[in-house]
Amino acid sequence: MSLFRKKNIDTIVADAQANADGHSTGLSRVLTLKDLTFFGIAAIIGAGSFSSLGSAVFSGGPGVVILFIICGIACAFTAFCYSEFASRIPVAGSAYTYAYASFGELFAWIIGWALVMEYSVGNIYVAFSWSDYFTSFLEKINIHIPDFLTCSYAEAKGAIHKLAACNAVEKVDFLSKKANLELVNAWNNASQIGGLRLILDLPALVINGLITYLVFRGVKESKNFSNIMVILKLIVVALVIIVGGYCVFHLNLSGNWHPANLQGEHNFMPNGFSGVMAAVSGVFFAYIGFDAVSVLAEESKNPQRDLPRGMILSLVICTVVYILLTLVLTGAVVYSKFENVGDPLAFIFEKDNLNVGWMQFLVAICAVVAMTSVLLVFQMGQPRIWMSMSRDGLLPKVFQTIHPKYKTPSFATILTGLVVGVPIIFTDKTFVLDFTSIGTLFAFVLVCGGVLLIPRKEKEKGKFHLPYINGQIIFPLLIVISIIFITIKFPEYFPSLFHFDFSTNADYAAGKLSFMDVATPQISLIIFWVSCIVLSIYTFIKNFSLIPLLGLASCMYLLTGMTKTNWAWFIGWLLIGLVIYFIYGRHKSKLNKS
Ligand code: ALA
Repeated sequence: MSLFRKKNIDTIVADAQANADGHSTGLSRVLTLKDLTFFGIAAIIGAGSFSSLGSAVFSGGPGVVILFIICGIACAFTAFCYSEFASRIPVAGSAYTYAYASFGELFAWIIGWALVMEYSVGNIYVAFSWSDYFTSFLEKINIHIPDFLTCSYAEAKGAIHKLAACNAVEKVDFLSKKANLELVNAWNNASQIGGLRLILDLPALVINGLITYLVFRGVKESKNFSNIMVILKLIVVALVIIVGGYCVFHLNLSGNWHPANLQGEHNFMPNGFSGVMAAVSGVFFAYIGFDAVSVLAEESKNPQRDLPRGMILSLVICTVVYILLTLVLTGAVVYSKFENVGDPLAFIFEKDNLNVGWMQFLVAICAVVAMTSVLLVFQMGQPRIWMSMSRDGLLPKVFQTIHPKYKTPSFATILTGLVVGVPIIFTDKTFVLDFTSIGTLFAFVLVCGGVLLIPRKEKEKGKFHLPYINGQIIFPLLIVISIIFITIKFPEYFPSLFHFDFSTNADYAAGKLSFMDVATPQISLIIFWVSCIVLSIYTFIKNFSLIPLLGLASCMYLLTGMTKTNWAWFIGWLLIGLVIYFIYGRHKSKLNKS
């Protein structure tokens, strides 16, 4: 089937080699293991921990630690799979290239298309968060940018709609929150052209422009810049953990780890496990980035050895950091106070909380630095994926243009700047956060699945080799044990999955939510369990390898936390991608000609 025509792994490596040798303008190989690990950390620790952690903690309470552990495990399994691919196919392109070798062209295109969500759309969220911290940092030194130049049009409009729907008492409460007041002010004070209000997030646009310029100028400069920023942010994150942790024990605040919920019950998960799972987009977003290391294959000195190590090392470091950060945050301040808090790491040191003034200031500066490095890594990753797709004929040749002087993919870099910059004017944070997480999880699922499909290989000295553990008995056994355990411990769990009567749901009864809005979590879980059973049967027959199986299952589980709206947008995005593939890529593909 030509839709599933595959690239041969040896051909992929040989092609990349020919590309590099054939043109003296190939990318320069300058990155070492330390650089790659730093790139990993640079991409991982950013807006997720500095910004979206606040709403995650508000939704799940201290129990969000469990979600960090689940996501960490899912990402570790996935990192192993990325590493296996990266060691076998050490060329730029990440999951896209891997899919080309395992699933064939159609899936490769779908992954390449989904990765735009991870790299470009993800950077929109980071740029918004960068702007939030930058603005509040400026406030601390008494510089004020007008509100209508520091928020997005969509957010301001949303706030005005919400305000209009409030009764008098609710209005007072709504406007008592600083973030809401700023949005309303932005709407009311903005100048208008032909009835259209001029509201845009100027700092987000400016930082995107600067980063695009830096990436355009070349990897070496970017590398040095990135390494310094990573060291800075690790120091400050460590300080937050040490100073915050000290305060939690010194002020005897550990009771916050078992807070009371609205019903007055004390629990590590005050809103239950569903509250924890509702935070999945934010928590998973915090982990995105370790895979970005794999797109630097053609710029690293010893990709087969260093890529896997760099990825796993950066992931392990960040997982430990996140678990400690969440414990410190939820210990320092009771979870319910994190509603709408966009700068949680600075928030815990505010006057009403731990009251450590210098930490507030330091965290604000550091957040700006941390997010700059995330922006940088993702802005470097996107053009390199497009470059690989263009080499295969799936995108026009112009995406391969390498700048004669700076040796960077110049056209693709500028286009990335536009793809991140233009939506900054039209979208808002929540939308891009969900969109990024679902697209990336989808790509991870395909990478883990891809490892199951490539033929096994003997270990070669000096190269990463994914240990083969036969999943034939272990995987089905794990699934059966899980089902038995859940049935005994939570007898209501499985019957409730098939119970679709939502009459007791107030929002559904009032017509605020549709049937699919409320039913999506259940439907996703049913699909998850059925997939696990089917996978167990296949594994029993085909002796699949255990590590990618566990990666696949854990990433699929995280997908069950996505809402109906997330799925609707994601499927829409995929459909657009498919149309483009059938109109262009399918005919222009190099495999079509050979
Ligand atoms: N993990 C990256 C961040 O949190 C995307 O900013």
